[in-house]
Order: sequence, then structure tokens, then C-alpha cells
Amino acid sequence: AVQGAMQKAIQLAPDGWMPGGRPDPLIREQHGHVGQPVSRLDGPLKVRGGARYAAEFPLDGLLYAAVLFSTVAKGRIAEIHTGEAEAAEGVHLVMTHRNAPRLAKMPLFMSSAKAAGGIDLPILQDDAIWWNGQPVALVLADSQEQADHAKALILVRYEEDVAVTSLAAAKANGSEPAMFMGQPLRAEVGHAEDALAAARFKVDQCYSTPRHSHNAIELHAVTVAWEGERLRVHDASQLVAHTAWSLAQVFGLDEGQVHVTSPFVGGGFGGKCLWWHQVLAAAAAKLAGRPVRLTLSREGVYRIVGGRTVTEQRVALGAAEGGRFTALIHTGLTAMTPHNEMPEPFILPARSAYAAENVLLNIDVVKMDLLANTFMRAPGEAVGTFALESAIDELATAMDTDPVELRLVNEPDKDPSTGAPFSARHIEEAYRAGAEKFGWSKRQAPGSRREGEWLVGMGVATGTYPYYRMPGGAARITLKADNSAQVDIAAHDMGMGTATAQTQVAADRLGLAMEQVEFRYGDSSLPGTVLAGGSQQTAAIGAAVVAAHRELVKELLKLAGNSSPLAGLSVEEVGGFDGGLASLEDPTRHERYADILARAQRAELSVEAEAPPPLETMHWSMHSHAAMFCEVRVNAVTGEVRVSRFLGSFDCGRILNPKTAGSQFRGGIIMGLGLALMEETQVDERNGRIMNPSLAEYHVPVHMDVPEIEVIWTGIADPHAPMGARGVGEIGITGVGAAVANAIFNATGKRIRDLPITLDKLL
Ligand code: MOS
Repeated sequence: AVQGAMQKAIQLAPDGWMPGGRPDPLIREQHGHVGQPVSRLDGPLKVRGGARYAAEFPLDGLLYAAVLFSTVAKGRIAEIHTGEAEAAEGVHLVMTHRNAPRLAKMPLFMSSAKAAGGIDLPILQDDAIWWNGQPVALVLADSQEQADHAKALILVRYEEDVAVTSLAAAKANGSEPAMFMGQPLRAEVGHAEDALAAARFKVDQCYSTPRHSHNAIELHAVTVAWEGERLRVHDASQLVAHTAWSLAQVFGLDEGQVHVTSPFVGGGFGGKCLWWHQVLAAAAAKLAGRPVRLTLSREGVYRIVGGRTVTEQRVALGAAEGGRFTALIHTGLTAMTPHNEMPEPFILPARSAYAAENVLLNIDVVKMDLLANTFMRAPGEAVGTFALESAIDELATAMDTDPVELRLVNEPDKDPSTGAPFSARHIEEAYRAGAEKFGWSKRQAPGSRREGEWLVGMGVATGTYPYYRMPGGAARITLKADNSAQVDIAAHDMGMGTATAQTQVAADRLGLAMEQVEFRYGDSSLPGTVLAGGSQQTAAIGAAVVAAHRELVKELLKLAGNSSPLAGLSVEEVGGFDGGLASLEDPTRHERYADILARAQRAELSVEAEAPPPLETMHWSMHSHAAMFCEVRVNAVTGEVRVSRFLGSFDCGRILNPKTAGSQFRGGIIMGLGLALMEETQVDERNGRIMNPSLAEYHVPVHMDVPEIEVIWTGIADPHAPMGARGVGEIGITGVGAAVANAIFNATGKRIRDLPITLDKLL
């Protein structure tokens, strides 16, 4: 059936890029925009304060919301007294489970194609408490200060139930197999334990990683208004179309009655999805008959937006003389709440990173009564590569071999888990170029380089993230009489430069100048259901735009008719050049778009098309890779760690815009430095309450923590990805934890297997 579907898709799209078909024609038809380091088109707007974020839309009669969070982990609300809050100055109403409108549950992410919810519990529909920090009441007032004050006047008495709030208690209750995207997180090839026991060289270690909370600089916020039965939502979102559909389910509306826009987002990373705050704001607005703004406090983000869950991982490697892996075991557990979809799939990198004769991969899940965990930049890979790539470093030490060479000896020639060919895999080039540039050959033996109080060391690790392309991509292209074009797609720019890079691509494809192309996005009323997540948005947009462009060319050739220089040419024989279409064979056969439209007496031409299904991922194993090189200085007296140099050498296919892609890589690496050295959500094991819900106590890297980061790339186009480009969003964080840990080992001789690597662990 899969083969049949693929054949059909190929027949439907006989030219240009298609899954399983020929490479994107842009790979040969470049006009000079793609690959240029174009500065972000929205930059001037942001610098001048002209970019309006979700919490900045002015609406007449706006009320401000404040949310009260439960202080127990499980049980029920026995009493809630809102009278004093209701009587406070400026207060319009207090919403609790007693007066909230009847709402359906949020559809849980991945439960259907357009589901966006991070958690599927009833929202203020009953007195049940599911986690410490769950919203129990919302105040609406004329000002934020009045709402915040009144919130403090609400009295709640809880009847507590026994809750599972420590990992030890959760483990004592037993575990179950982890499921991810409908598949068990398990794979077995051969007899890994036997091979390990018999191996000439081996390591067998446990690694642990803590919870992480989302800390986008822009707080989660929403401004909502009911216009009759229509709901208008100004959101900060990675998935506007999913959010519109999901809110429609919650409020019993048609999808078209909910309009979600998100023109600017101050950081996403998996956290800017549908959580309770959008639903609470819309419900309160309905109750009050007034527009509502809800901006979560920083503490509020920690209380109700899920983060990365805790992991305990075992990695065991067996190797033969010469370094070939005979056994690769990566197993362990994560903790989840009963109402979410994210088991932190840390074994994903081990499926395709190395050739090993015998493999055992498995994740089990234990259950805890905490806030739902969720997607956070490279879920699975970010922490999975920490364990796997630390273990490889340990094996290299045990074998007294170079860790770069040990990795390259184990390069697979096809995907070891599926047998599929790689679409493009140039990790060796990435390693060689990175090693050369970083000066890897100058690395010394562990603990042997000291400069005053500082121990200096170098480490390396592989980063990896899969290529995905989710179904649902669609795009509309409109050509106008002034020879300009507009590309419309419900996609997202969260600051990574989507609109800029896609304007470059569209301009190249159409043969127009950048100024003649407008890329519109961030609006659920535009075509497509595109998620800015899984590092797949560029591919999703690309495939949709290729499809729409083909339709556009077809229509143009029809309109051009017999008196055009293009007469008789087929879709396959033309391309976009010099503001119009031209024959690929004979560029003098050319006609401007505006002239075609004018002759046909058309003011504009607009076409819309859907992307073909993502069959390329069935045919090829598609992954991005990176070689991460780190130099650290560890203070021998205080244990303080300073990352002094970092270089990421990437293999992500074609780089559409080196400036925005470079920033993505650096941003990911910086988040990886936080993962390695700082980030940890601390939960009070007695009551399940997050103890450090602020940037004062939850540490992320600041400027002083970040050295100059060099990024380089192979830039080798992936012939099976639209535009030749795999994602560049999440790969940056992967491998960084291990590169830092391995550098710390090289500096100090101390191996730390528990993140974050704080100074107490080094003394
Ligand atoms: Mo990413 S965790 O898919 O936003």
C-alpha cells in the first residue's frame, strides 16, 4: 500500500521536487537569493518597537486577567471564597469551576492532525486538582495590578489526596512501555546483552537528566475577543491553524469561527502551543462579554506550561579490536503525567547514528502527579545524545583511541534500524572540517593541561536530529498586476527568520526581486496546517510552495495562450526568470507575469495547492548531523566551569540563509550549554511544587556564560528534501551536553553523568 501510494504521488507530481522523485528544481535554477545572508525582514520593525506581540494588541474595553494556582498536587477544592476578590477595586468577575462556561477538553497534541493541546484535562469544569500549580480561579479587572491584587484575596481550602511527587515513589509503583507517535519506543537487533558480555572493550554506565522548564523571553500571553459567535485570538504560537481548530472543539464552534493570528513570537522551542491560558482567557471573555488579555507571569509559565521531563538512561557499548561496535544498548525510563503525549524519546538518536551488530533500545515510563511534560527543543535527542555521546567518549578513553575516529569507524552505510538508504549523510566531512578548524589535534591527555588555577580540556560529540515533514502543508500564491507576488501559508516566524528565508526562496522560484515578494504567515485563515516544530516547517512550507508554484505555472501558460512567446511550452519546460516565465532551453522566449495577466485582462492570478504526502521519509532515512567541539576551563579551586570555545560543524543539507541559519545553530548551542551546566527545574518531592519558578533561581546562560561560537556547515544539498534543505532548528542543542561533559572530563579526569554539571559535582 505504501509503495502504491508513493507511485501515485510520483505520478501526480511528475516534475520538480516530489517525495521519492527528482530533486527540487531550485537546486539547479538559482537566481541568487537563496544562500545569501539576508538580514531578517522583520528586524527594523522589531528594533523600532513596531512589531506587535500577543500581549500588545489594543482592544476597546479590554480587561486584564490574573490566574490563581493550586497549592496541592492532588485532591479537590473543598471551599473557595471569592467574595473579597469580587468586591476589590476594578474587579469585574472571578471565574472558578462554579461559574466557568461549559467547555470540552482540549484535544491532546497528536490525537488528531490539528490537535494542539499540551494536556487534555477538563479546564475549570469540576473541583478536581491534578497538579500543584493547576489554575483554580481567574480574576478579571480593569488593570493587571488590580487583577493581581484581587487574586491574592481568594481563599481556597483543599482536601488532599495522596500524590506521587517523587521519582522514587513513581518507580515503586512500576513502569510501562513508552509510546511515541503510536509506536513503542523499543527496538532490538540480535542479542545485545550477550554481545556486550563477550566484547573485547566495553562501557556500561547510567546517566541522568533533570526536568527543564520553558523560558522563552516572551511570556505566554493571549489577547482575545468574542465577536458574536466568532472568537478572535491574538496568540504567541507555533501552530495557529491547530490552535484555531482545537479552540473550536473546546467551545463547540466551527473551525472557521475561530481566528488565530501570531505575527511575532518571542521564542517558542516547543512551549508556545495550546495550554490552559488561551482557553481560560476565551472563557472569561465570554463570561464578561468583554475582550480579555491574559499574560502569564514568569511563575505562571512554570506552573502551567509543561517542560522537559526527567530521564534515567543506561548506555552500554561493546566494541571489537579496531573499534567496531558489537553491542549498543540504550535503555531507561522517563516520568510522565497521565494526561500528555511526550515520553522524552531519548533513544531516537541511537536508532540511526551508528552501525552496531547488536542493538537494544527501550524506554519505560513511570507516572507522576505533576504538570504535564511536553516538547522542548529536540525532545529525546537533546538528552539522549548526552548519554550516548558521553558513553562513546568513555569507550574511546577505555580503548585509548581518538573519539572522533571511534565514531567514524562506526559510520553506517545504511540506516541500521530500517535498512533504508540515507538521503544524504556527510557527517565525516563535518567532523574533518570541524576538527581542522577547532584544532582538535592539540587535545592533550585528561587532566594534563593547566593554566594557573584553570584546568583546560577539549571534548567532542555528535549532534543529530531527524528530518520530518508533517502532512497538512498547503500554500496560495497570488500574482498581481504590478508584477509582485504574495505567498500565503499558515506558518510561523518565531524569530528564526522563516519569512526572510522563504521570501528568498519564493523570489528565486518566481524569478522576482525580494521586494516584489510578500510572504504572509502567522494567521489561521491562510492555507495549510503547518507546525513550527520538529524542525520541519521549512520542508512543510517548501513542499507546499513547490506544489502551488506548479499550479501557478500551469495557469499562467493557459492564460498566456497562442500569441505569447511561451506558446506551446509545458510546465516542465519553463522556469521563473526576470519577472516572468521563460523557456529553460531558450531564455529569449520570455514573458513578464504582468504582461500575461494584462493580455488575459486579469487583475491578479491566485492559485492554491496542497503539498504531496511526506513519502520521502518512508523511502530514505533522513537526518541532520553535527560535530560539536567544545573547550572548557574548570577552576581547580572552585569547580567553576567556563566554556571558552565552541564550534559546531553541521550537515543539514542546503543552507537557505547563512545568517538566520547560523543564528539558529548558535541559539541551539547556547541552549545546550544551559542543559549541560545550568538548567534544572527543582520539584519539592513532598508536594510536587516547582521550587524555582523564576529566572533568578532557574539558571539559563547569559552573555557572560557564552563564548564566541563558531558555526560551519557542509552545505551539501539533500536531493530528497524540498529545496535541498533539512531543518536547522533543533539540531543545535543536540550533542552539546556531551561535548561539554567530555571536555570537562578531558580537563579534569572527572566524568559527570548527571546533568546539570554544577560545580559541587566537580569538587
Ligand atoms: Mo520543537 S520541541 O518541535 O518546538
